[in-house]
Amino acid sequence: ITKERTMSKKAKLIVDGEEYEFPIVEGSEQEKGIDISSLRAESKLITLDNGFANTSTCQSGITFLNGEEGILRYRGIPIEELAANSNFLEVSYLLIYGNLPTPEEYHSFEKQITEHTLLREDLIKFYDGFPRDAHPMAVLGSIVSAISTFYQDGLDPKNKDQVDLSIIRLMAKLPTIAAYSYKTSIGQPKIYPTNDLDYCSNFLKMMFAVPSEEYEVVPEFVEALNLLLILHADHEQNCSTSTVRLIGSSQANLYASISGGINALWGPLHGGANQAVIEMLHEIHDNGGDVDKFIEMSKDKSNPFRLMGFGHRVYKNFDPRAKILKDACDKVLEKIGVSDPLLDIAKSLEEKALNDPYFQEKKLYPNVDFYSGIIYSALKIPTDMFTVMFAIGRLPGWIAHWKEMNENKGTKIGRPRQIYSGENLNHYVPMNQRDKKKAA
Ligand code: CMC
Repeated sequence: ITKERTMSKKAKLIVDGEEYEFPIVEGSEQEKGIDISSLRAESKLITLDNGFANTSTCQSGITFLNGEEGILRYRGIPIEELAANSNFLEVSYLLIYGNLPTPEEYHSFEKQITEHTLLREDLIKFYDGFPRDAHPMAVLGSIVSAISTFYQDGLDPKNKDQVDLSIIRLMAKLPTIAAYSYKTSIGQPKIYPTNDLDYCSNFLKMMFAVPSEEYEVVPEFVEALNLLLILHADHEQNCSTSTVRLIGSSQANLYASISGGINALWGPLHGGANQAVIEMLHEIHDNGGDVDKFIEMSKDKSNPFRLMGFGHRVYKNFDPRAKILKDACDKVLEKIGVSDPLLDIAKSLEEKALNDPYFQEKKLYPNVDFYSGIIYSALKIPTDMFTVMFAIGRLPGWIAHWKEMNENKGTKIGRPRQIYSGENLNHYVPMNQRDKKKAA
């Protein structure tokens, strides 16, 4: 944030012969934006930007993304370096607190998280109230919202100690909440967290252990899970992160803001795409592997079908996360001795789409969700838990943005404007005269 500067050049806007000047702000990676904060006050004009495709809502120092060159960096560190060398908790610390932790900082962070993984017994009873076939994203969002009722000592967004404690609680409890939603859905007993296991091993144990048998953590599963969570950990102002920021801008507490982010992530155009991709690959497989048919369908404007896992609002060259995951797929599947026909279908789909003028012209490339589902399947994570996995990965990013926004003294409540396109002045018609009015 501190590295942004206002340039001497100005942007000029001329409307009806009147001229207005606006400062140009340059970010630390030379990205330029026109600061229109004074636009309405000076000109009575506002801007219209469908889907915020050209609008920065904040200045942020967390994640840098260059969609043309396929660059993604957390706090300046390339995603490729983090994927190769780090683990999910270390990356979480980096995103939330701004620097790679020293050994002391890391161990303290890990210890605190480990000590907060249990859920209150009263909270666990909530799971009995959900239908067995509830989507785990609905359960996740609801329980995260519900935990705020148990931690009323941690709801003040302006109290540093309370915020720090809520961060630890959320990081610690989200995997437990997620695993319990799965256990409830299959009618198995819930497995309490194990404090001598690392973050990912503990999660896998809570998901897959049963009380009647010893559970052995498979190191290859842990490695793959760390990689997936790191790649999902932040992606600057995406739909769910913007939701978290918008909710938080009203000074709502961290639990309420994150619960909103989880619900935003659920949609198939966002985090729900990983589930949609695997369902699409299954459908292609069950239809005899006819990849061309599905590519044609996705190009047909009269058909709402889209090639799931393809395209991105920001990446117009390649998604570096998809590149890492494509390479990881072969390695992970080989290491854990799984062969998945869906991987061959995915590769053939990618190759054909990348050579198709429709996808080339529209700059549509595989995104992070194209290959993630294949690895999650290999780890035996059920399909409807994929988006929950994305949420566990994205949690530190959401927290980092919420914290950055709250710590920025200049933050204002988010409140976009609109161009009104409804009726002009109209009048109330008593109920007994309304049909007459229509007839007239
Ligand atoms: N298959 C076929 N056509 C597509 C696709 C696709 N997957 N994605 C975009 N297009 C077309 C779209 O029809 C439009 O064509 P036209 O200009 O002729 O109207 C053009 O490409 C631009 O698409 P858009 O919807 O205006 O682009 P957007 O930036 O608003 O949407 C997107 C980005 C990711 C929502 C979209 O590409 C999409 O729906 N992809 C499939 C869902 C998906 O994989 N989502 C995961 C995103 S990555 C994980 C995350 O961060 O959440």
